[in-house]
Amino acid sequence: MEVSSSLYLAAYATCLSLLLGYGSLGCLEEEKVGLLQLKASINHPNGTSLSSWGGEVGDCCKWENVTCDNKTNRVIQLSLPLIRDFELGECSLNASLLLPFQQLQILNLSHNAFTGIEGLLRFKKLQVLNVGWNNLRTIPNLSALPSLKVLDLTGNNLNSSQLQGLKYLSKLEVLNLHYNNLMGGIPPIIGTLSYLKSLSLGICNLNGSLLMEGLCKLNLEELDLSGNSFEGTLPACLNNLTSLRLIDLFENDFSGTIPSSLFSNLKSLEYISLSDNHFEGSIYYGSLFNHSRLQVFDLTSNNKYLKVQNENPTWSVPLFQLKILKLSNCTLNWPSRVLPSFLLSQYDLRVIDLSYNDLTGDVPAWLLDNNTKLEYLRFESNSLTGVLDLRSNSIHSNMRLLYLSLNCIHGELPPFIGSIFLGFEVLDLSGNALQGNIPSSMGDIDQLVSLDFSNNNLSGQLPEHMMMGRNSLWVLKLSNNSLHGTLPTKSNLTGLFISRGFLNSPTLQALDINSNSLWGQIPIWIGDFSNLRALNLSRNHLDGVVPTGFCKLNELSFLDLSHNKIGPTLPSCANLKNMKFLHLESNELRGPIPDVLAGATSLVTLNLRDNKLSSPIPPWFNLLSKLRYLLLKGSQLEDSIPLHLCQLKSISILDLSHNHLSGSIPPCLDNITFGREVALMDDTFFMDTFNRWYGEYHVTYSYENQVFVYQELFISYEASTEREEIEFITKCRSEAYIGNILYFMSGLDLSGNQLTSLIPPEIGNLSGIHTLNLSYNQLTRSIPQTFSNLEEIESLDLSQNGLTGKTPERKLQFATFEQSSYEGNPLLCGLPLERSCTPTSAPPAVQPPVSNNRENGSWEPYSYGVLEDHMEWHS
Ligand SMILES: *[C@@H]1O[C@H](CO)[C@@H](O)[C@H](O)[C@H]1NC(C)=O
Ligand SMILES: *[C@@H]1O[C@H](CO)[C@@H](O)[C@H](O)[C@H]1NC(C)=O
Ligand SMILES: *[C@@H]1O[C@H](CO)[C@@H](O)[C@H](O)[C@H]1NC(C)=O
Ligand SMILES: *[C@@H]1O[C@H](CO)[C@@H](O)[C@H](O)[C@H]1NC(C)=O
Ligand SMILES: *[C@@H]1O[C@H](CO)[C@@H](O)[C@H](O)[C@H]1NC(C)=O
Ligand SMILES: *[C@@H]1O[C@H](CO)[C@@H](O)[C@H](O)[C@H]1NC(C)=O
Ligand SMILES: *[C@@H]1O[C@H](CO)[C@@H](O)[C@H](O)[C@H]1NC(C)=O
Ligand SMILES: *[C@@H]1O[C@H](CO)[C@@H](O)[C@H](O)[C@H]1NC(C)=O
Ligand SMILES: *[C@@H]1O[C@H](CO)[C@@H](O)[C@H](O)[C@H]1NC(C)=O
Ligand SMILES: *[C@@H]1O[C@H](CO)[C@@H](O)[C@H](O)[C@H]1NC(C)=O
Repeated sequence: MEVSSSLYLAAYATCLSLLLGYGSLGCLEEEKVGLLQLKASINHPNGTSLSSWGGEVGDCCKWENVTCDNKTNRVIQLSLPLIRDFELGECSLNASLLLPFQQLQILNLSHNAFTGIEGLLRFKKLQVLNVGWNNLRTIPNLSALPSLKVLDLTGNNLNSSQLQGLKYLSKLEVLNLHYNNLMGGIPPIIGTLSYLKSLSLGICNLNGSLLMEGLCKLNLEELDLSGNSFEGTLPACLNNLTSLRLIDLFENDFSGTIPSSLFSNLKSLEYISLSDNHFEGSIYYGSLFNHSRLQVFDLTSNNKYLKVQNENPTWSVPLFQLKILKLSNCTLNWPSRVLPSFLLSQYDLRVIDLSYNDLTGDVPAWLLDNNTKLEYLRFESNSLTGVLDLRSNSIHSNMRLLYLSLNCIHGELPPFIGSIFLGFEVLDLSGNALQGNIPSSMGDIDQLVSLDFSNNNLSGQLPEHMMMGRNSLWVLKLSNNSLHGTLPTKSNLTGLFISRGFLNSPTLQALDINSNSLWGQIPIWIGDFSNLRALNLSRNHLDGVVPTGFCKLNELSFLDLSHNKIGPTLPSCANLKNMKFLHLESNELRGPIPDVLAGATSLVTLNLRDNKLSSPIPPWFNLLSKLRYLLLKGSQLEDSIPLHLCQLKSISILDLSHNHLSGSIPPCLDNITFGREVALMDDTFFMDTFNRWYGEYHVTYSYENQVFVYQELFISYEASTEREEIEFITKCRSEAYIGNILYFMSGLDLSGNQLTSLIPPEIGNLSGIHTLNLSYNQLTRSIPQTFSNLEEIESLDLSQNGLTGKTPERKLQFATFEQSSYEGNPLLCGLPLERSCTPTSAPPAVQPPVSNNRENGSWEPYSYGVLEDHMEWHS
């Protein structure tokens, strides 16, 4: 009988599944087989992950990363992030492989380098799908996922046109598209997802003015548009999003005022970040004081036109307890510049950043006492005064970063400072007026990575204890203080400026003690800091030889020993192959330029100015092909300027002035770029040594639990270019060019030598040059007409030579040069000199012949006689 047999079959099937699946025997055979097929596919062709699947444990519900329902034993969750071995390369996943798991509720396939999911994803009960951080080029087919609530597509390469499939997801509550390449505005399809509560479109390459595309009608709780290029004012309808807990507009180009109604309407706000935009006008944070749930408030780095204030007493006690407050560079409480008084009521803060506000008053050390969970405090670049008034019995074990640099803090450091901040990793008190000794308790801090006490008035010797046992220090900056004493020699370790305990910092990468009063020799043990990349001992009274220990410093890329009395040469064993910036100016180097420099093939800057070097410029200079700044001024270098210097194409500044160089100026100097064709974005100036350290506090919102999750403070650093600094004398002033500005500076200074003959017309080809100084030589003949091509020239000095003929036509920049550019050439005439030229019957202007033998290494000055004498001059 048809009916009864099918009933019988149905009953039998139920029994069977009770026996096989729902009973104590574990997972369904069909799902077990399915899991093994999935594993094989993920491991294709020879991966090894999920090795425990299919082993001795027969019950697949007990396999790793598989979760079954505890009644039905059906697989309900597959957590398979980071499963596919990246070395296997990209592949797409066949959706059919997932078909056996019909009860699946959560599927996590993130971080697997899948290029796509082919076929239809068909799950009636799937609520959470995470395919973030793959290489999806197309969105999976989502049309058979009626229960989906959470979809995570973070970190793929999707564009807006691929999002149409979202229309099937009528129940979707959380959509994360962070880190895709959507382009344009907010995709309109998103506004149709009527249950949507959480939307992340951070770093999606979106731009234009923000059109909300129906989002304001939704009941959004979380809106993350950070890291895009949205511009213009905030849309008024944001006011309607009264359920909003999180609004993150960090790093966009929004401008205009922030309507105060925004804050007063959105009473559920817990997280506000409007930082890194161009908002302006005034905002009164008092309008937030009734937001009892507010935890994060970040308006950092809008331009100075955003004035953030509130010192209205009626609001003075807010209902919130903040965890993160960042109001850096916000023109805070202008003009009173007082510290926000509501801070007196806060005791739960982890992060406070009020840097760059010019706040006045005493250092608010009480913030540390009140907020015992504080990890990160930044007050740099304000006008805080007073002494560091810390209590010796308070313990701030959570504090990891403290920046109080660039204020006016004075007095001595509390002797117990190291014992109350045992967790410090970064401490920056530079640029204040601190006095006295560096307390020995600093030696108690184990985790210290970066310590900056530079630019204070600290004195005395560094306590030996300070560096004992330290094994984490990367950066130590003590420059510009009044520390004194000698650097110890191996045999004398007591009462010394820097003890050998210091050597317990094998990690040390940057040591800067410049501008103190250290004397004696550089100790041989300097070589024990084998990781040292930057060493600055300049502007002390160090003398004697550079020790051979120095030869062990293979990583060194920045060395500044300038303004000491070091000499007479460098050790020939020095390994300079990584050296990029070498400053040895104003020392006692003698004899030839040290040959060991021939191995410094990475050099960008070589500064040997103001030493007592003699002999000719050595023949190996052409090996230093990356040189941009070659500064040899002020020694006794002799002989002619060698032609091989012309091979140093990258040079922007060449300073050979004030030596005993003779002969004529090589015309091939126009082979050097001098600022033409500068590659702007190369990494020449990047040093990973004198880093700027900062902390990042990541907060993620857990939609499921409706709470913010504070992840651990993440300490990081960025390479800093600030140290590379070159002085260059333009007419009448010496200017220091620092870091990136150096890119834009170019100049040639051959002044104060004994150069003869004419100025080669090829010098006029240096169209990128800013400064040209050939003064105080014995140059003759007329100024080449090609000088009119020097389009960028800002400073010209040809004075005190034997030049004849007429000064260049006073056009463009040449109109700005004054007499001083040309004076001291008795046979030169024309404005701006007072001596005028009266042209007589001028012969046709003869262009000097271009030298035809400049490539073969030898050349002769031009001989063309008639050129200069076609002018007469009258004094
Ligand atoms: C897989 O095969 C490739 C190419 O044959 C090989 O390079 C790789 O080492 C293998 N990987 C494993 C885990 O065996
Ligand atoms: C997968 O299983 C392994 C082993 O139990 C575990 O270490 C890992 O955290 C699991 N991954 C996930 C996402 O659950
Ligand atoms: C079965 O699962 C439910 C929800 O997933 C849980 O609340 C319950 O405690 C579990 N029971 C057992 C016996 O593990
Ligand atoms: C996906 O898997 C199914 C079932 O194993 C198979 O029939 C189909 O051909 C596969 N599709 C692709 C594109 O490999
Ligand atoms: C998926 O796995 C990733 C990586 O472990 C994890 O960050 C994420 O929270 C998981 N998502 C879900 C929905 O389980
Ligand atoms: C905001 O909400 C009000 C009242 O609910 C409604 O009248 C108005 O149209 C909404 N504005 C926008 C821009 O959606
Ligand atoms: C502060 O804002 C001004 C104006 O936009 C900007 O020039 C300056 O670089 C900012 N300073 C810092 C430290 O962010
Ligand atoms: C914070 O410290 C100040 C000064 O010591 C004190 O007046 C205030 O009551 C403290 N606030 C909290 C919340 O502890
Ligand atoms: C070590 O050097 C210091 C200062 O140069 C000196 O005062 C001291 O006597 C020396 N100690 C020994 C043991 O040589
Ligand atoms: C000029 O540059 C070229 C190639 O860039 C090079 O071959 C030549 O030797 C250089 N000339 C001189 C004189 O250095």
